[in-house]
Amino acid sequence: MTISITQQQRQQLIRAAMTARQLAYAPYSAKSVGAALMTADGIIYTGCNIENAALSPGLCAERVAMAKAISAGERHFTAIAICGGPLDAPAVPEELFYPCGVCRQMLAEFCSGEMIVICASDEQHYQQLTLAELLPYPYPPDNH
Ligand code: THU
Repeated sequence: MTISITQQQRQQLIRAAMTARQLAYAPYSAKSVGAALMTADGIIYTGCNIENAALSPGLCAERVAMAKAISAGERHFTAIAICGGPLDAPAVPEELFYPCGVCRQMLAEFCSGEMIVICASDEQHYQQLTLAELLPYPYPPDNH
């Protein structure tokens, strides 16, 4: 199945990721990240990074958005937008945030290689990729 989103949906996702970023809890890295995940039905789930004094319990924005969606019963996704940058400052177009390896693998559990990944600093500045470009050889889940 070919996945596509409209320009309006891309704008909605980027805006939602930018807004979610404002809620980041990131006192240790001072980098705030927001993610907005769209289901096949067009519903958007957002997440922000949540850090921890012990460091390793920290969560990336993408996995928070995924956990919210999966725990709400969602299983089918078309796109995710990610917006990150220095805490309390606008994101920088030249320093887009790309999903970490763990988040790529978590996306691969539920999304095909055609899943759209939009790394953005704002609605005008973004790079649109597919999950297959970011993770060409995922550890395969049973359901694919
Ligand atoms: N982070 C995310 O939330 N998503 C990414 O794609 C990359 C990194 C977070 C983790 C940590 O809280 C902060 O950004 C700095 O690495």
